[in-house]
Amino acid sequence: MIPNFAPANEAAIPLTLVRPTELEATLAALDPAQQAWARSQGFAAKPGESLALPGPDGNITQALVGLGSDEARRRGRFLAASAASRLPAGTYHITSGDPADITETALGWLLESYRFDRYRKQDAARASLVAPDGIDVPRLRTIAQSECLTRDLINTPASDMGPAELAAAALALADSLPGCTAHVITGDDLLTANFPMIHAVGRAAAPHRAPRLIELTWGTTGPALTLVGKGVCFDTGGLDIKPASSMGLMKKDMGGAATVLGLARMIIELRLPLRLRVLIPAVENAIGSDAFRPQDILTSRKGLTVEINNTDAEGRLVLADALALASEADPALIISMATLTGAARVAVGPDLAPFFTDDDGAAAALSASAARVADPVWRLPFHTPYEAQIEPGLADLDNAPSGGMAGAITAALFLRRFVTAPYIHFDIYGWQTSAAPARPKGGVGQGARAILDALPALLKL
Ligand code: BES
Ligand code: MN
Ligand code: ZN
Repeated sequence: MIPNFAPANEAAIPLTLVRPTELEATLAALDPAQQAWARSQGFAAKPGESLALPGPDGNITQALVGLGSDEARRRGRFLAASAASRLPAGTYHITSGDPADITETALGWLLESYRFDRYRKQDAARASLVAPDGIDVPRLRTIAQSECLTRDLINTPASDMGPAELAAAALALADSLPGCTAHVITGDDLLTANFPMIHAVGRAAAPHRAPRLIELTWGTTGPALTLVGKGVCFDTGGLDIKPASSMGLMKKDMGGAATVLGLARMIIELRLPLRLRVLIPAVENAIGSDAFRPQDILTSRKGLTVEINNTDAEGRLVLADALALASEADPALIISMATLTGAARVAVGPDLAPFFTDDDGAAAALSASAARVADPVWRLPFHTPYEAQIEPGLADLDNAPSGGMAGAITAALFLRRFVTAPYIHFDIYGWQTSAAPARPKGGVGQGARAILDALPALLKL
């Protein structure tokens, strides 16, 4: 489902964004009947509070939406945009407010109107918004539509979003974007092309769900940026099988792939001056007679050997081969995004996207962008002293250190072993556990908007 602004419309209902400090002045400027109505309703400009004001004939002629105090706004994001779900049906036009508030509200409005309607018709959002004046509408539209692509990909169950369908979605995206080309390596060709760990993790799946390496490229000038996304279309845990309670959500284990595809769409539609490459190892971590086993030792594309101590630590394996390929081209920056560890969730919960980088400047740029665009991230350390934990002895690396302490960090350190370019790694959750403003329950992108905002600083564009 693709959200969009309503066409410009003379009859759209004017909507005023109101800060509590401006409440009195806003009410005083209304005509006496509407002012009396607003006061009797107790409108206080709390975040997301909405009030439709009737004219003399009872039709709605104006709407107020509260922005809340600075303190109240710290408790959430896109709070004003949640009014989109509460205002009466109609087309609205934001006529006043500062540009930053209008931008967040307009983007949030589009994101709030997202519905996953592939399997069942869903009630469409009743309140639509005309593109506001004075803000970068094409940018917001692209961001919202790309985020909704990410959500659709995550929400689609593994029965309809296996490695083949994920590759088809990437090819369809490339087709829709001028200058973007796609290439897919499938099944046993992964062995010939030297992606042994992608093959090992994905080989137990049925033949029509064989593993793949998906590649998209776009752009001819500027610094090279490579995005790598974990595309585990379903994670059973493999032979070290997950308990049912942990497996329940594992259709979302391609959330990293979905997020980098959404981010790629934003970068390409906005024509950022860079050369983009997207790499997605797409596999199903299945259980079968040919499944890779605990204590197997795999030789990676880079030549490092890896002892498997848990087949459920599969994401780092498929990413490692993709990161090695990415590094061979010496790009200016590699960013990986992956639903990599449960430990990241324990550390920061579902709402914050932890990221790792050795570059303090990049970390500062990302944190600043995250705050600016309401896409929260938090830096965790590549703590080098923990390297010993990923070194088992029989092989160069251990995919699942015993003890499980600092699991998000040891997973990140594992990935870093395969990278020789400037590097940022995101360990995302990709799922909204309960509905929040602009984020219905279900698949959700994390970090993409922060990265998009930070790219000029990260790549000196
Ligand atoms: N896909 C999971 C991580 C995950 C689980 C992300 C739940 C979000 C929610 C990953 O493949 C995994 O199973 N990781 C293991 C690694 C462990 C075996 C070293 C984990 O985190 O438990
Ligand atoms: Mn796993
Ligand atoms: Zn996984």
